[in-house]
Amino acid sequence: MAELKPVYDPIGQHHAIPGGLKQYEEMYKESIDPSTRDEFWRKQSAQFIDWIRPYDRVSTGGFAVGDHAWFVGGQLNVSACCLDRHLATKADKTAILWEADEPGQSKKLSYLEVFHGTCRVANALKLHGCRKGDFVTIYMPMMPDTAMAMLACTRIGCPHSVVFAGFTATSLKDRIVDSQSKWVCTADVGKRGSKTIKLKEITDAAVNDCPNVERVFVFKRTGEHGVPYHARDVHMDLVVPKMRPYCHAEAMGSEETMFTLYTSGSTGKPKGVAHSYAGYLLFAAMTTKYSFDLRDDDVFACVADVGWITGHSYIVYGPLCNGATTVMFESVPTYPDPGRYWQMVATHKISVFYTAPTAIRALMAYGDEPVKKHDRSSLRILGTVGEPINPEAWRWYFQVVGDSKCAIADTYWQTETGGHVMTPLPGVTPMKPGSCCLPFFGVEPKVLDAQSGQEVAWSKGQRADGVLALAKPWPSACRTVWGDHERYMATYLDCYKPYYFTGDGCTKDEDGYYWITGRVDDVLNTSGHRIGTAEVESALVAHPAVAQAATIGYPHDIKGQGICCYLELTKGITESPELLKELKGAVRSAIGPFATPDLLIPVAGLPKTRSGKIMRRILRKVAAAEEDQLGDVTTLADPSVVPLLIAKVKQAQ
Ligand code: WT7
Repeated sequence: MAELKPVYDPIGQHHAIPGGLKQYEEMYKESIDPSTRDEFWRKQSAQFIDWIRPYDRVSTGGFAVGDHAWFVGGQLNVSACCLDRHLATKADKTAILWEADEPGQSKKLSYLEVFHGTCRVANALKLHGCRKGDFVTIYMPMMPDTAMAMLACTRIGCPHSVVFAGFTATSLKDRIVDSQSKWVCTADVGKRGSKTIKLKEITDAAVNDCPNVERVFVFKRTGEHGVPYHARDVHMDLVVPKMRPYCHAEAMGSEETMFTLYTSGSTGKPKGVAHSYAGYLLFAAMTTKYSFDLRDDDVFACVADVGWITGHSYIVYGPLCNGATTVMFESVPTYPDPGRYWQMVATHKISVFYTAPTAIRALMAYGDEPVKKHDRSSLRILGTVGEPINPEAWRWYFQVVGDSKCAIADTYWQTETGGHVMTPLPGVTPMKPGSCCLPFFGVEPKVLDAQSGQEVAWSKGQRADGVLALAKPWPSACRTVWGDHERYMATYLDCYKPYYFTGDGCTKDEDGYYWITGRVDDVLNTSGHRIGTAEVESALVAHPAVAQAATIGYPHDIKGQGICCYLELTKGITESPELLKELKGAVRSAIGPFATPDLLIPVAGLPKTRSGKIMRRILRKVAAAEEDQLGDVTTLADPSVVPLLIAKVKQAQ
């Protein structure tokens, strides 16, 4: 933990919480107190959800067996809450502002246009046989059609499974198979930083191994790339304009599955985290409104990708349910130059800007000039998400990007939480650089001792260190792992019963502020991407030259964590630069370019206990150049491997 001082005073006044910290505390209490919480959530849901059928109970069940449910008995349609609801007053307001890869090529779509477009896509899906309850996999770039494809799914009651368009064909195939999708949406190509990604080709490679897929709906991004079409393909640029711009909005039960999103854990294959309609939508919408003090004239830019949960909650569903103008950014922060974000802020008068610490650190390296040459006077709120932000990056974001005039929202959450679970509220919460500050409404954090599972005692003026659990279900707590509730229980709910376990380490400081210290499980967070060490290892051992592999994260200036893989090579194989390059390529093509190892270190032997368990703690310390803090190494089967390891790592770094 970095520092307690200085504490930055709240900036401005939160228009929905004008009474500041005192009002937040009252609202927070109301949101968790058993005698008032139902009324709190009833009032909130009335603001954001148009019920088709009213619900019978606000919440039931809990974390003991994972039967937590919200707004039980109610029916709603998410696309209607995001679009139809606003048509009477905001038909002409810009809903989606698309900033294309090439600067200057932006496009604005009004609420009416997005409504019509969504209905047309929904009708095209139906025309080809897609029915309520069918899973639809979406593998698409950052273009408005992607948001409309997602909204079309929710309109006709099809759970979507969006797969980030940086994943390889194998990863896409695994996800299509796991969700048993018969329908896949893709685009001819994607554009990023002037590069062309041949999405249709990758989709074909994946779908050729998926006999269950009936149709591939192909949207047009550029139309330049002559992609071969198959009988199963639907040319959406030809079909969509023929469709009727109205489509019935299915009445969906609050607790039916709205979407799954695959995410990495410490073991096995990525799992399909499942969210349900009402609770997810409410929490995405509420957090967008409160965490960013959203106002009607805001231009809201979350520069994540819709392939991750951040894009689901804060590009599509949260902003649209609020009737806001949401920016979709197709490019990368350094294209064509490192001033791209700020040029975009100036052009579109962006008022809320939301990015990740890794992007902030990467841009910091170019100095202040690319920021300062663009007009950022429209900015009011700056958000960050994805990993702990180091105070230095926080201060640069605050002082240079925000001219010390914008509130910073360091939002802590996960794919599984659906929306922010801890964050300062602009104009309300005094900010400490590097701390995600205080819990959001309905969220009850507990700092637990990792071994005993007991809550670590805390009182004002004291610190508590441990692992972070959340005590009671909030509306958007994920409901299950798709097709495997046992795995859901084992991963999240059985570890520290009856709490939800986040997998993160945490400190609660003298003022009751929370500081996330990073994952305590075998999950890496590299440039805000979450990668399971097991996934990287299985890609490596699939290569005949590798006998065993152990992957760990180590501190990296830009990425937060770099990926370091220790390798025991197969007997008779000698290491060479060519082999290491090939192995990097093997991981790239098995998972995706973002999972490319930073360091590959062949070693004579991995440090193992007598029972054969790899001691990752030692590998982490060595990679972090903290070999003076190795701790007890006497339990190793062969302690002599340690000095060899250290020598090898020094050589590689
Ligand atoms: C993990 C979740 C939630 C959207 C992006 C990533 C880390 C996320 C913060 C933050 C400290 C953070 C945690 C968490 N994390 N935001 N503000 N401060 N750590 O979603 O891929 O599900 O990853 O990201 O370690 O567990 P995800």
